[in-house]
Amino acid sequence: MATCGAGAFLLCPLISRPLKQSLILLKRVCFNPMLQILPMKLKTNPKTNRREENFDLWLGKPAPRYTSFPPAPFFTPAVTEQDYSSYLSTLADDAGVSLYLHIPFCRSLCLYCGCNMSVTQRADRVQNYLGALKREIERVAALTGKRRVRSLHFGGGTPNILGEQELRDLFAVLRQHFDFNAAREIAMELDPRLASADQAESLAACGITRVSLGAQDFNPEVQLIVRRHQPYEQVAAVCAALRHAGIRRINLDLMYGLPKQTPESLADTARRVCALAPDRVALFSYAHVPQIKKHQRVLEKYGLPDVRQCLALENAARGVLIENGYCEIGIDHFAKEGDGLTQASREGRLHRTFQGYTEDDTPHLLGLGASSIGQTPAGYFQNEPDARAYQSLVANGQLPIRRGFLVSPEDRLRRAIIERLMCDLACDVAAVCRRHNFPIENLAEDFARLRPYEEAGLIARQGATLRLATPYRMAVRIICKAFDPYTLGSQKILSSRVA
Ligand SMILES: C[S@@+](CC[C@H](N)C(=O)[O-])C[C@H]1O[C@@H](n2cnc3c(N)ncnc32)[C@H](O)[C@@H]1O
Ligand code: SF4
Repeated sequence: MATCGAGAFLLCPLISRPLKQSLILLKRVCFNPMLQILPMKLKTNPKTNRREENFDLWLGKPAPRYTSFPPAPFFTPAVTEQDYSSYLSTLADDAGVSLYLHIPFCRSLCLYCGCNMSVTQRADRVQNYLGALKREIERVAALTGKRRVRSLHFGGGTPNILGEQELRDLFAVLRQHFDFNAAREIAMELDPRLASADQAESLAACGITRVSLGAQDFNPEVQLIVRRHQPYEQVAAVCAALRHAGIRRINLDLMYGLPKQTPESLADTARRVCALAPDRVALFSYAHVPQIKKHQRVLEKYGLPDVRQCLALENAARGVLIENGYCEIGIDHFAKEGDGLTQASREGRLHRTFQGYTEDDTPHLLGLGASSIGQTPAGYFQNEPDARAYQSLVANGQLPIRRGFLVSPEDRLRRAIIERLMCDLACDVAAVCRRHNFPIENLAEDFARLRPYEEAGLIARQGATLRLATPYRMAVRIICKAFDPYTLGSQKILSSRVA
């Protein structure tokens, strides 16, 4: 069984290199000034194997991924379309928005998939859905007025299942109802198996500026098991076609925790990914939720790696990415030096949404399409997740809100603390309290919950400033949990363990 700790791996490439090169690497790892303000004493004793003890405090423990606070399992049906409608109609006159658009269809099922999607080969199913989506766009815009859009993200499912004409029509409706003149980014998640040179040209013509390609793992044995046949050469050809069409901002998604992955094989995938020179790489931990996604059960017969093996997999891929010049962003993203995400991360301007890490600071993120989630200062508004039920609600003339969460001033404070921790792996809690006009004394119990982690060296604390020790960055979700009374007081099943 692998016992390699995150920190051990992280330091390996550093000590085998000339000093100058090591310092450059170190700079990439310690990307944020917040990370450098506290002296860090790591209690690592090789005799007592202290780091192993520390693992027991966090590795394999359940914790939300904190893409929102409160986490999505705490959303409630008490939040209705009336709440959303009143939020939309009272947006400040000068407020811009960002948009997330969900396309919940794929051509085939990948066995690891945890997304809201269904498989279809039927054009009419997609067209009917697009009809509802356009009506929802019109309805939302009727309440907000024609707003400036800062960024637009198409997620799925597989947004590039849409044909050229379908995409053009959808963009026509979007541009009719929202103002894209100052949009910084229009991004789309693509399945490389459906992409082509012609599609790349049509995406560019529609104004797409960034794409995320699902690469996951290039090992043929892993691909066979997860039912996603996708040779490296195919992904390489798609990257070339996109760049030729003028879409130069490319993200690649990798995943660890799948059957038959080994640190060596995943490192090999990461090397191939680096050869494609994406601007950003996401290294997702596989979320195994067979109670919700029954198809994932099939993977169990091949044997899923345990949490320590997962950590070794993550270490292996991360090491390759860092060696190849990528900077670590939060817990699972990597970006080139000079990329906007790297800059935002260094300057403490990173944000975390349901789409992951972003430099987009627009507080008004509106969700469109089945299952999409709006993230706003008032709270969260989630659409009906089932595509057919979503279409019926829209056909009835409703805003298809199914559940959500209206945040209190204290929720907003906790959301800010957790966001800084997830983004910076550090937080000046006193400063956040001052900004939210919240007495820090009221967080005494939260700080008390942190004590075991301080004693074990997972975090350093100076006054009310917290910092994760670099080797334990993956433990940040457990640290966030100390500030999350909803999760702490709940019996709800949390979907993911920390690894
Ligand atoms: C909507 S998919 C990407 C677009 C396209 N459908 C594809 O697969 O290429 C978004 C990403 O979610 C990640 N993902 C899907 N299921 C996951 C799971 N169970 N755990 C962690 N990440 C997952 C994958 O890395 C995938 O690339
Ligand atoms: S990973 Fe992508 S292509 Fe595969 S089933 Fe999920 S959303 Fe569809």
